[in-house]
Amino acid sequence: MLDLEKLYSTTARETRKSAIRELLKLADKPEVISFAGGWPSPDLFPVDTISDLMVKVLKERGRKVLHYSKAEGEARLKEELIHLMAKDGVSAEAENILVLTGSQQGLDMLPKAFVNRGDVVFVETPTYVGAIQAFDNYGTHMVPIETDGSGMNPVALEKAIGEWKQRGQGDRLKIVYLIPDFQNPSGITMTEKRRRGVLDVAARHDLLVVDDAPYRDLRFEGKPVPSLYALDQNQSVISLYTFSKTLVPGLRVAWAVGTRQLIDKLTTLKQSVDLCSSALSQHVVAEYLATGCMERYLPMFNADYRHKRDIMLEAMDEFMPGLQGLEWTRPEGGLFIWVTLPENMDAEKLFHAAVRENVAFVLGSAFHPTGGLKNCFRLNFSFAAPERIREGISRLGRALTKFAQESA
Ligand SMILES: Cc1ncc(COP(=O)(O)O)c(C=O)c1O
Repeated sequence: MLDLEKLYSTTARETRKSAIRELLKLADKPEVISFAGGWPSPDLFPVDTISDLMVKVLKERGRKVLHYSKAEGEARLKEELIHLMAKDGVSAEAENILVLTGSQQGLDMLPKAFVNRGDVVFVETPTYVGAIQAFDNYGTHMVPIETDGSGMNPVALEKAIGEWKQRGQGDRLKIVYLIPDFQNPSGITMTEKRRRGVLDVAARHDLLVVDDAPYRDLRFEGKPVPSLYALDQNQSVISLYTFSKTLVPGLRVAWAVGTRQLIDKLTTLKQSVDLCSSALSQHVVAEYLATGCMERYLPMFNADYRHKRDIMLEAMDEFMPGLQGLEWTRPEGGLFIWVTLPENMDAEKLFHAAVRENVAFVLGSAFHPTGGLKNCFRLNFSFAAPERIREGISRLGRALTKFAQESA
């Protein structure tokens, strides 16, 4: 029998099976209320509208949208994206945009474009698990930077950069990766001051800033903070946007916006990744935008998620025990709440206790490049039905109360 182990590349050999995914299999039972997935609510998917638009696109553009398309993306979609971004203070032209098959594709292509094994990417603490995996595949050295309720701390970033430079390894420093809006996993939104601070540090030290913004338009309350792309004065930022959370993930339409030079490089890389994104999906999304569907449906998405967030937060206030050091975030949008347990408490042990009570979450250590944040976990409030959210949190409160008594 062929021994694949002998043939695998270093990358494939070093790719670790996600321990978290293995753990979550324990929770894969109908009786478990799961707050683990990062999924939008399928109840909100505008299935009939998408179906109508798909028929329209097929009737009008038939064979063309079923064919291969251009790697950089369909001009018709780009026009709509330019309008969409302009509403958010981002000015771009077609040459600044690369359509992606999911923003995850951008997270794979960026280290491919910039990272040699051992090069450094600075990340928030915590950061997105899918970015950790993508960066890991290219042998990236991820450096977690102190992050609090206002976002990544620019002073801590500057200090970390200084330490690498002092060791004569300044040329290893490549990227600052941020999810500034309703972060996955913490729900935190970076303040304008912090955004300006990090941009300033990145500009002075010649680092690329990756602004991963899948949740930016899922704001339920409060004032929008200007995007990193809009604030940038040094052409240091590449932003990744996606329709996965504001429309549906299944069309796999996302895009990157950046300098022409960088978009050009990424377009060349994309050609060998998937040749092009689906023209059919791109035209469906372009029609969705052109016919004003986004303005109609997005407020409904946000109203639903706001309602679910409120139910989860109210249930947490009611059912979580009063433990010293136990706290959680109160996000103004997005899909996630981040819970910090008292420092000596192990979220993995709590996970097993929670699964016994038929409720699940994702361990904080999944969101740290070297497995830190062991006393933290992420809750998703968008996927479960409202009555399941309340019941799930009451089970979680019970599990935590028992667990705290046992560990006292
Ligand atoms: C921060 C972040 N970036 C990127 C992605 C990937 O999204 P997409 O469906 O566009 O590939 C996700 C998905 O959950 C995410 O949370």
